[in-house]
Amino acid sequence: MKKAFIIGIGGQDGSYLSEYLLELGYEVYGIVRRNSVCEHQESRVSHLDGRIKTFYGDLLDISSIEKVLRDVMPDEIYNLAAQSHVRISFDIPQFTTQVNALGVLNLLESYKQICPKARFYQASSSEMFGEILTKKQNERTPFNPRSPYAVSKVFGHFIVKNYRESYNLFAVSGILFNHESPLRGETFVTRKITRAVGRIYHKLQTKLTLGNINAERDWGFAGDFVEAMWLMMQHNKPEDWVVATGKSISVKEFLKKSFEYVNLDAEEYLLISDKYFRPNEVNFLQGDPEKIKKELNWDPKVKIDDLVKMMV
Ligand code: GDD
Repeated sequence: MKKAFIIGIGGQDGSYLSEYLLELGYEVYGIVRRNSVCEHQESRVSHLDGRIKTFYGDLLDISSIEKVLRDVMPDEIYNLAAQSHVRISFDIPQFTTQVNALGVLNLLESYKQICPKARFYQASSSEMFGEILTKKQNERTPFNPRSPYAVSKVFGHFIVKNYRESYNLFAVSGILFNHESPLRGETFVTRKITRAVGRIYHKLQTKLTLGNINAERDWGFAGDFVEAMWLMMQHNKPEDWVVATGKSISVKEFLKKSFEYVNLDAEEYLLISDKYFRPNEVNFLQGDPEKIKKELNWDPKVKIDDLVKMMV
């Protein structure tokens, strides 16, 4: 039985990936952080209690990770841990860099020393393309990051490539475009919108305040995207892969579709506030997933309208 170790198992992707790997017959191990806010709440993996094994730890406390690597000796390591909020990275740039950049380096060092035969997955991000240099972005598109978050992810991406090339490790990065689900954190725009629709419909909320609704993103379903992570870990050689649907819509269109689903007019509830604008915005992202579609036969099943429906 194969063993997978997921750092960041308590996030949206950690939850979907755990379910997927359990279905494939893996033993699943993960690190969870002690979090005073969530202490008494259900976590995104509490429904998997008894089926996965979790340890307390933190990417910034490398000894906690090394202990698990030694005890478990995993076949596959998935690094999904990050300070993942782009706007918040402008408020806490140093913390963001500690986790998303140095955290990856520390993890690679431990992996290289303790279990170099394992395969390693790094969660890279479409945010690395930033102010885009080509209409569609693929594995050959240069990065042009626009936030502390994106800059930290570029470091993570290149240090993984560097370790792969220098030490002959099976270490890959998935450059994932936005991927959403009902488990998405409530401050990300799709969840903020779809949650507000439910609350407005049930008269628990009267207004929805957003920032730049003209931004466009290539939104897919997280459940489809974790399959892509696993596929790239099974390939015969370690490479980097863009994972996207290939189609983009604006926040405004996502908003409209979400409200229309319950026959409400978004305009009646919408407020715009400076608070949600970023000092530096990524206006447009659209992935070109041709490589992963062709070489790994990956195809996202959930289309944007199904995603809206699922989330509302
Ligand atoms: N969060 C948020 N809140 N975003 C808003 C709002 C708002 O009230 N109003 C407008 N937006 C716009 C943002 O300015 C951005 O252009 C877009 O909506 C999407 O924002 P987020 O949902 O916060 O996601 P993101 O694109 O910045 O980053 C997410 O996707 C990346 C790519 O997969 C994060 O999950 C990153 O961690 C991830 O790397």
